[in-house]
Amino acid sequence: MIIPKRSILSFDRRKKQILLLLVCAYTLIVFHFNNKKFDLRFKTSATLPTSSHSSGINLKKYKADRRNLRDLRAQLSYAFPYEPEKPIPRRVWQTWKVGADSAEFPAEFRTFQKDWTASIEEAELFQYSLVPDSYVLPFLQSLYGEVPVIIEAFEAMPSHILKADFLRYLLIYARGGIYSDIDTVPLKPLDSWLSVNPTSLQNFESENTPVPYSNYAKSFKKVDPGFIVGIEADPDRPDWKRWYARRIQFCQWTFQAKPGHPILRELILNITATTLNSVSSCSKKFKKSIDLEHSRDYNVNYRDKRGQDESYDHDALKVSENVDGTDIMNWTGPGIFSDIILNYMSNIINNNDDIMLLNSNLQSSRRTNESTKKFYKKITESLQTHNKMPWEFFSLIEDPVLVDDILVLPITSFSPGVEQMESKPTSDEMAYVEHMFKGTWKDEADNNQQNKE
Ligand SMILES: *[C@@H]1O[C@H](CO)[C@@H](O)[C@H](O)[C@H]1NC(C)=O
Ligand SMILES: *[C@@H]1O[C@H](CO)[C@@H](O)[C@H](O)[C@H]1NC(C)=O
Ligand SMILES: *[C@@H]1O[C@H](CO)[C@@H](O)[C@H](O)[C@H]1NC(C)=O
Repeated sequence: MIIPKRSILSFDRRKKQILLLLVCAYTLIVFHFNNKKFDLRFKTSATLPTSSHSSGINLKKYKADRRNLRDLRAQLSYAFPYEPEKPIPRRVWQTWKVGADSAEFPAEFRTFQKDWTASIEEAELFQYSLVPDSYVLPFLQSLYGEVPVIIEAFEAMPSHILKADFLRYLLIYARGGIYSDIDTVPLKPLDSWLSVNPTSLQNFESENTPVPYSNYAKSFKKVDPGFIVGIEADPDRPDWKRWYARRIQFCQWTFQAKPGHPILRELILNITATTLNSVSSCSKKFKKSIDLEHSRDYNVNYRDKRGQDESYDHDALKVSENVDGTDIMNWTGPGIFSDIILNYMSNIINNNDDIMLLNSNLQSSRRTNESTKKFYKKITESLQTHNKMPWEFFSLIEDPVLVDDILVLPITSFSPGVEQMESKPTSDEMAYVEHMFKGTWKDEADNNQQNKE
């Protein structure tokens, strides 16, 4: 009688022990995963970094420490690591209000889209994605679930144009490939673009000798292009400010990149921080995340001209009624896009001694007054005494320019046939994409901007 009783007792004890062990293991596992999630999720009390905080950081080599993901740069870098040795994903992205199967999809876009899908069929392994408005939020949630503050910023944006700009950066940062506006057509097989064509790349690199800069140690690590932009505007005239936001404006209606490229990370950081602080619906919630010492960095009402205008109400938070064209330029558009690119380039030549700069446009054989050579003195001075990338490096270029893994194409590549600023016809060898300028809401915004100025 005693023995079975004991055995029951001892069995109970063993069961308890096993149960306890299971509970412990479960708690450990849950804690581990929660902790990971907790780490990755943005904490609103943490600082949103601004460009003022990046001066001591090597933006090219920056890597996040998994145990300390408290700021947005760290979280983005951790969630989307940049892998320069991988090829550029062969995908073309476009976005529009509705899908191509909708009756509201404009007939002329259908013909443009056919050109893209045809050129994708010709090229090896390319794929095509059109993202209609109704897919945007679920898609962003699947891409940026770990960094929900990005989605908050996107949703808070008080204008469709801001969102359309932000969306293209977010898509390419997360997935890579070519983004091109819905009103563009490809002019060349996608395989022939310099960025993805090994033969042309090799020729391009062997024909060029690297341009020195102050830190340059005369050796570089060869890198394939990871971020490809074209020149949108290069108005070489004294009154250029009447027409354009920047003297050299990079084009963001078509660009190409590998996922996780640090330029896009910096751009997304800038836009997110500006949005969370400048927009009425969320600025209060994110007050704790901003660094008061650099509070103007976050304020879209405080960029240069407007910043100096004392009659302007800088504290006015943004709602859809008070967003105008200049805001769009400096908040999400070609203005901020161009600033971030040039700042990034200056940062990497300041912090690294092995950056390859290739610019055949600077060669002495070029005609001096109508080519980049005209700025030779300014360029060498800026690179060799200040390690700073001047916009002049990209002015009047006919041949592509390489800065580390950033390939800058001449105005002809994405803006051929515009008959100004040295743009060559659509039949030119460097002409890759033609912009048909049919994006109606964008034109409206540009008109608003011109009327206001
Ligand atoms: C965004 O970039 C602009 C232009 O470089 C700069 O003036 C501003 O301070 C930046 N803002 C943030 C939040 O980084
Ligand atoms: C936008 O930024 C540019 C460059 O920083 C500046 O020159 C311009 O005045 C800004 N626009 C406004 C409205 O602040
Ligand atoms: C360049 O411009 C200067 C002054 O405008 C002129 O004297 C010179 O002849 C020009 N050179 C060329 C090669 O066109």
